[in-house]
Amino acid sequence: QTVQLIGVPTDIGAGARGASMGPEALRVAGLAAVLESHDLQVHDIGNLPGPANPWLPPDQGYRHLKEVEQWNQTLHDAVHAALARDHLPMVLGGDHCLGIGSISAVARHCRETGKTLRVLWLDAHADFNTAELTPSGNVHGMPVAVLCGHGPKELTGIGGTTPAISPSVVRQIGIRSVDEGEKRFVHKHGLEVFDMRYIDEKGMRHTMEQALAGMDDNTHLHVSFDVDFLDPEIAPGVGTTVPGGPTYREAQLCMEMIADTGRMASMDVMELNPALDVRNRTALVAVDLIESLFGKSTLMRKG
Ligand code: ARG
Ligand code: MN
Ligand code: MN
Ligand code: MN
Repeated sequence: QTVQLIGVPTDIGAGARGASMGPEALRVAGLAAVLESHDLQVHDIGNLPGPANPWLPPDQGYRHLKEVEQWNQTLHDAVHAALARDHLPMVLGGDHCLGIGSISAVARHCRETGKTLRVLWLDAHADFNTAELTPSGNVHGMPVAVLCGHGPKELTGIGGTTPAISPSVVRQIGIRSVDEGEKRFVHKHGLEVFDMRYIDEKGMRHTMEQALAGMDDNTHLHVSFDVDFLDPEIAPGVGTTVPGGPTYREAQLCMEMIADTGRMASMDVMELNPALDVRNRTALVAVDLIESLFGKSTLMRKG
């Protein structure tokens, strides 16, 4: 199995500068070596090119719409090409607006190959805003809505089919910050959300059993890991921290249970912001969790 690392050095959709440095921080934290130690081939294609961040205020509900479109179109093409080569694309963000390019490509690949898509969205936020609902205009708060067909045609059209996905393929985990209007919109579209209240009451094990239920040999599992999913105590290096997230142990179990399915075929690591980090520790914890996602375990396990 070859993992293709795709760096996307931009903070074009975020409300704080610095996620553009995420790809390099993950490399410096030893990502490639960790994957290689699990018998994976690593093909790092380097960083994709794209426009600079003009750092302008929102215009008609969106900040930097044109630049967001350009980055996501480029990413879409790269992820689609990686999947066509039978590589496992790992997108190194960059802010979470890049979920649009990444997941639209995965959805297109699934349509072309007859696979069933399942998206796990690990995040403190639902990222289900629209121009009308957003309190910020930051497109990193909108990718799930865009993928489900709600947003500007410049973005909903990426990948050629609108909507790219149905809300029914998404399972959101770790959610604890949803804006007022966004909440109603999540409910209206029936997104399946395992919020922190659910995890507190039922535990991470039961939560993951539910979120992973119903998959089979034909399932393509995509994991979109927004690093702000984690409690800020262990992951301070993100632009939009929300207290009360999964602990290190809970996050490990989450990753291990995903690994156990053997179905993960693409993933994103988003929102890591080295400008806000402390000696790269958030990148290190992210790499540590990614190792579990690829099957690290303490004891030998039968296959
Ligand atoms: N809900 C807020 C907004 O729309 C925050 C979104 C944060 N999203 C993220 N990917 N970190 O502005
Ligand atoms: Mn997010
Ligand atoms: Mn988030
Ligand atoms: Mn709709």
